[in-house]
Amino acid sequence: MELGFVGLGRMGGNMVTRLARGGHRIVAWDRAADAAARARDNGAELAGSLAQLPKALKPPRAVWVMVPAGEATESTIQALAGVLERGDTVIDGGNTKWTDDVRRGRELASRGLHYVDAGTSGGVWGLQNGYCLMVGGDKSAVDRLAPIFTTLAPPNGWLHVGGVGAGHYVKMVHNGIEYAMMQGYAEGFELMSASEYGLDLPKIAELWNQGSVVRSWLLELTAAALADDPRLEGLKGYVEDSGEGRWTVEDAIEKAVPLPTITASLFARFRSRRDNSFADRLLAALRNQFGGHAVRR
Ligand SMILES: NC(=O)c1ccc[n+]([C@@H]2O[C@H](COP(=O)([O-])OP(=O)(O)OC[C@H]3O[C@@H](n4cnc5c(N)ncnc54)[C@H](OP(=O)(O)O)[C@@H]3O)[C@@H](O)[C@H]2O)c1
Repeated sequence: MELGFVGLGRMGGNMVTRLARGGHRIVAWDRAADAAARARDNGAELAGSLAQLPKALKPPRAVWVMVPAGEATESTIQALAGVLERGDTVIDGGNTKWTDDVRRGRELASRGLHYVDAGTSGGVWGLQNGYCLMVGGDKSAVDRLAPIFTTLAPPNGWLHVGGVGAGHYVKMVHNGIEYAMMQGYAEGFELMSASEYGLDLPKIAELWNQGSVVRSWLLELTAAALADDPRLEGLKGYVEDSGEGRWTVEDAIEKAVPLPTITASLFARFRSRRDNSFADRLLAALRNQFGGHAVRR
């Protein structure tokens, strides 16, 4: 089918390539000329501007937005809403907070536009392996996009999970679980790295992927990272977060649902960004105050 596509970065560029290979007609636009040129080389047609993109598509149109979550997605969707027509659909594939979807869905509906949120998982490997898609929106809008989702996803790799916002809600929880799984691997490998046995960590990561209970794609990536640099000496242990873990924890607090492991994983990331923190200095000072325990200056 035909699809407009805005945002041709690490995710969008590969998604457009997979869609074009799957026989869809893709009309793409990105503010970055080099990203647009790569998409053209990979089978997409290019629109001259965001405003011109709808003119290259037959109604009812569908346009997938794959730009950074937050302000970039908001302004892109608002600009699109201004040039699309009643009956057209906007799909947000970025990591948007689900509450923004609910608001945006209502705003677009008041202008006769459909809004679909597609939580997308698969990273840069999605081109090869397919993208797991968690889709929210009205059934009629989602059904019409089924050929696109089917091409992007691996077999049985997409699901209409509920109304507007449900796709990004499920993706948010997925990412919360991902934080906890990554933290579990990180801690286990740290303990093994401190072992007196001189363990071969890359080989153990590979071993555990052969039938063990903890085998996973994240563990395959662990093996790959450790194979390149077994002690990860080329990296600083500074871990960013892009918001989804925070939103997961916020929603858990709102609903009084206990999420100790995911919460601890999020806080471990915050912790990774602090060297010689005030809290640690205060702990040392207190031990010194009450017990005269030695401190390091
Ligand atoms: N990377 C992942 O593994 C992953 C996985 C799942 C979901 N996602 C989500 O997918 C979305 C895209 O991620 P990505 O990794 O592909 O990002 P990316 O590589 O940074 O690409 C984003 C693209 O959007 C463009 N862009 C940035 N700000 C813009 C704006 N204000 N208006 C219009 N275009 C703008 C960028 O252009 P410039 O290069 O000029 O900035 C770039 O071409 C994000 O919402 C992200 O959370 C990412």
